Amino acid sequence: MSSDSRSPLVVTIDGPAASGKSSTSQMVAEALGMRHLDSGMIYRTVTAARLRIGGPPASWTEESVLAAASRATVAPGAPGATSFEPRLDGAECEAEIRGEAVTATVSLVAKMPRVRIWVNALVRATAATHEIVVDGRDMGTAVFPDARLKVWLVASPAERARRRVLQRTGREPTAAEVALETSELEARDLKDRQQTQPATDAVWIDTTGITQAEQVRRIVELATAKR
Ligand code: C5P
Repeated sequence: MSSDSRSPLVVTIDGPAASGKSSTSQMVAEALGMRHLDSGMIYRTVTAARLRIGGPPASWTEESVLAAASRATVAPGAPGATSFEPRLDGAECEAEIRGEAVTATVSLVAKMPRVRIWVNALVRATAATHEIVVDGRDMGTAVFPDARLKVWLVASPAERARRRVLQRTGREPTAAEVALETSELEARDLKDRQQTQPATDAVWIDTTGITQAEQVRRIVELATAKR
């Protein structure tokens, strides 16, 4: 069921790793004059906070991750900005949360039920003060089951891998690079599969054969109709 037209607009954009959720959400938020919140960024910041404490990830307890989570926050960014930025101990941490160490351990942290409750509370508190476009895995199911518009973005694994390498290197990837990236993405999809579920009332958009501008145009049109 969707909330009525008087509640603040929340648009959820969910899907698997590298399906283009964050960049698409950012552009949709800009077009609609809303704010973009990337929930994966919060899981990454909590993971970075725990990594700073040290010790082998296999030995991390949920309590120790939750204690580290209290050092993670999101900030609305500079005046005029359309996104929320991650903060660790109050400082900017974008490069750290996108690094390999965090990417390799974030799924472990994201599996912890009380960590999910903590992240979801932070996402909901943020939505209480701003109209948001929020992206992740379970925004339309666990966090905002009443969101007025829910989008489920998909793309073939090879296309997701191609885009990810292109984004990282700035050039068309080789077949070998695509193959390697595809297997890494599929491994992360497998680790995240439990929390990566489309809402039954989500609008599916397969982005494999369409441009990002077209994806954004379709979502903005759907959101405008819901406003
Ligand atoms: O979106 P991104 O790939 O940056 O997310 C990093 C990780 O955070 C995912 O691999 C997943 O483990 C976790 N995540 C999650 N639920 C969300 C968003 C992200 O479990 N809503």
